[in-house]
Amino acid sequence: MGRIILEGFMGSGKSTYGRILSKEFLLPFLDTDEEIERIEGCSINEIFKEKGEEYFRNAETGLLEELSASGRFKDGVISVGGGMPVREKNRELMRMCGSVVYIKASAESLKERLRRGKDKRPMLKGGDLDNIVDALLSEREDSYISAAHYVIETDGLEMYQVVNELKQIYNNRRKPLN
Ligand code: S3P
Repeated sequence: MGRIILEGFMGSGKSTYGRILSKEFLLPFLDTDEEIERIEGCSINEIFKEKGEEYFRNAETGLLEELSASGRFKDGVISVGGGMPVREKNRELMRMCGSVVYIKASAESLKERLRRGKDKRPMLKGGDLDNIVDALLSEREDSYISAAHYVIETDGLEMYQVVNELKQIYNNRRKPLN
């Protein structure tokens, strides 16, 4: 069926759901953050600190270009970093790569989850978590929606229910939004 691309805000569970889906369907899984860390040989935190955000954003675009032009992970699940859909070019590349699913969660549930994984995320540093999440989410929401072929609203759903929705999408049982 091709690639499934999972997008969404930090803490939405993209990578977790991506891993579960790939295991259930015996598909390869790629997380763009992990792939960039592998290529660069250092953590996202270090990339931001030593080379800057722009460098990281260019690495994200470069990786998407490579994936859309190559057959790599052609039948597979890809989870992208929370800032990937911000660039218009990235949104186009994501949609060319495969079926894009927005793993949507409310600001409240994101904040709850992000309180734990705050330190490895440079975008959450140097300010009040609640304010950062509110500002970034409202800035990015339109980008997530415009990149998405499908949206899964995860608030109020159990994990297995989100996975079931993803399975339906993978099996072409749901009609895309646009
Ligand atoms: C970012 C999200 C992170 C990572 C980087 C920047 C963002 O990925 O790409 O820290 O700008 O939202 P996750 O969404 O997987 O945490």
